Amino acid sequence: MQVVQFKPRPDRRHDSTGPANGKPVGATPTGATIHPIGAQAVVHALVAAANAAGFAPSILDSQPWRWRLTGNTLVLYLDRGRIVDDVDVDGRLAIISCGAALHHARIALAAEGWRLTTHRRPDPADPDRLASLRLDERSPAEPADAPLMNSIPLRRTDRSPVTGAPIAAAQLKAVTAAVRAEETSLHVLYPDEVLDLARVASDARPSESGSGDRSTGAGPVGLAEDRGATFALLYGHHDEPEDWLRAGEALSAGWLTATAADVSVLPLSAAVEVVATRQAVQIMIGCVGYPYLLLRLGRATTSPTGPRRAPTAQVIDRR
Ligand SMILES: Cc1cc2nc3c(=O)[nH]c(=O)nc-3n(C[C@H](O)[C@H](O)[C@H](O)COP(=O)(O)O)c2cc1C
Repeated sequence: MQVVQFKPRPDRRHDSTGPANGKPVGATPTGATIHPIGAQAVVHALVAAANAAGFAPSILDSQPWRWRLTGNTLVLYLDRGRIVDDVDVDGRLAIISCGAALHHARIALAAEGWRLTTHRRPDPADPDRLASLRLDERSPAEPADAPLMNSIPLRRTDRSPVTGAPIAAAQLKAVTAAVRAEETSLHVLYPDEVLDLARVASDARPSESGSGDRSTGAGPVGLAEDRGATFALLYGHHDEPEDWLRAGEALSAGWLTATAADVSVLPLSAAVEVVATRQAVQIMIGCVGYPYLLLRLGRATTSPTGPRRAPTAQVIDRR
């Protein structure tokens, strides 16, 4: 077992996979860059991806994942020892968190131009093995991935009250599209639904003793100080661990997009932690799907300047 400390993402000019002078390794007649794939470059990319995943949001900052690196593949495992039992009995919030880490790793690889294959189907013989990322080839990075990559060290949970004007339609559209691209949906709540949900969430509250997230000051939805907020429910058509993983990937995609668009995000899990309240929420939204997580969106009032918390050591088991 190797514990890898986070190192700042290498400056591409000093990337060991490229030439010392930072110029492209080679160019096609069309000008596209071709990078060689070496074993060292593969390990470097996968370790960097796991470290980028250390910036992902997780329930109570539990970071309930670990990685195994074998050849050109990075495997994501649920770390059951880090599940916060009293608020997450079936591990759904932990698996959503793992999905967010998986998406961060995918973005880090894509931003470096890696083409990869993602396998999500859980192995019945090894249920904690959630997904794997296999590097296939390297090609010029897609410019579309750069803003999300840049958002990784800037993203943070914003618990300050949302008092200004609501987010613009274009901002909401961008976040919704990012969520949908990860095969999950976002249902924007009408004001009366927000009130209903506030009741459901506050009914759920007594069962959440010991939840650090709640003690951090995230109050029930619909409070006066959140009058500028837009509330949206992340939901999908199935309710299995694989769907929770996808929900986490969608959470990450929506959140990184929101960060790039100056939209603040606060996940609110109170309404979905308990079966009864989750079902109440499901009925409330007309049974269009299974609710995974409630999000409070607002206009970001402060622009983040540096990493939002201390870098975290990622545990990477190398075989
Ligand atoms: C599935 C999930 C549920 C969460 N639920 C809450 C919540 O109910 N209240 C809250 O304040 N934060 C919640 N968070 C945010 C985490 O507390 C936060 O990601 C973690 O403390 C790390 O901080 P950061 O997001 O600023 O990096 C949740 C995060 C995830 C991934």
